[in-house]
Amino acid sequence: MFDSLTIRGLTLQPARFCAPLAEITHSAFRRLLADFGGCGAHYTEMLSGRKLLKEDLQQSPYCKRHPTEKRLIYQLMLRPDDPIEQIIERLSTVAPDGIDLNLACYAPVIRKLEACSRLFENLPALIRVLREVRRCWPGPLSVKIRLGSAAIGSEDRFAERLRAIEDSGVDAITLHTRFFEDKFKRRSRHELFAWATAQTRLPIIANGDILGAMTLQEHPEHFRSVAGLMIGRMAVARPWLFAAWEGPVTVDYAEVWRRMQGYIAADFPPRVAVRRLRLFSKYYARNFHFGHAFDTALQQAPTVEAMREKADAFFAQPQPVFALPNLQGL
Ligand SMILES: Cc1cc2nc3c(=O)[nH]c(=O)nc-3n(C[C@H](O)[C@H](O)[C@H](O)COP(=O)(O)O)c2cc1C
Repeated sequence: MFDSLTIRGLTLQPARFCAPLAEITHSAFRRLLADFGGCGAHYTEMLSGRKLLKEDLQQSPYCKRHPTEKRLIYQLMLRPDDPIEQIIERLSTVAPDGIDLNLACYAPVIRKLEACSRLFENLPALIRVLREVRRCWPGPLSVKIRLGSAAIGSEDRFAERLRAIEDSGVDAITLHTRFFEDKFKRRSRHELFAWATAQTRLPIIANGDILGAMTLQEHPEHFRSVAGLMIGRMAVARPWLFAAWEGPVTVDYAEVWRRMQGYIAADFPPRVAVRRLRLFSKYYARNFHFGHAFDTALQQAPTVEAMREKADAFFAQPQPVFALPNLQGL
């Protein structure tokens, strides 16, 4: 199931992908993911097109690619008046396997920039941006969207945007089946994949509340028409999730946390490393029956070294783990 997906001549194997997650899917986390394998493509977190013009892409902990990473798709946040040609030219120097445009983010600060969900709503600007990216970028191009706004007429507006995306030369769409206003409160509406895929000839990658193979087993009919799967939060809690899809994986939970700590400490300056490790640990903590104590101890530790001591103390005792972590509130 979802063995491969080919877009614009690029074959991604398997068609199971780790979602872009701001402040989480940096190079250190993607390296951990690559250690386990089983993920057909990694995505960077959303990168501001303008900032890319100033950044050292070979060194940046967000942009650099570890040699163990295979397919890496760079996700962009573009504003209608961005110098797209320059941005793509610069990004091309790190040879992305593909470019993805974020049209889903609903954060007020991003909407103020006329980007992401705001760009999705603004049809003329959306068409202009997509066509310009397509003109400048010959490789695989995808977009990541939600269902749009839930206001009356949402189905027609959504179908109209799918047509615009298709007509602009985009190769694939990742669809997170929530409305913008849902944020993360409501469950993802998997039953709408069948309808959405019928609106376009582009392959649709399913996203939102996919927890592993069991989500598909529960309702195979919801996923029959999609071309691939994208998983975010559960892959942070369980970076071996993609490998486990193919067969049992034996996990040493303490060793995985320490490895993540080492990768983050190697990539980031100390104060940023603390923040990135705290964020990863929030998700990782959900594996354990006493994860709340683990998370609280780490959130209070002021340095990576202090976090390591707290983690060592926690893992010194046998820690019962949940069969499936509960991600509520993350
Ligand atoms: C902390 C966090 C950061 C996120 N950052 C991004 C991002 O940079 N780009 C993006 O397209 N989506 C982002 N998302 C949305 C995820 O990619 C994904 O669509 C969402 O989490 C639903 O998938 P899941 O239920 O498998 O986590 C983010 C979500 C979370 C929770």
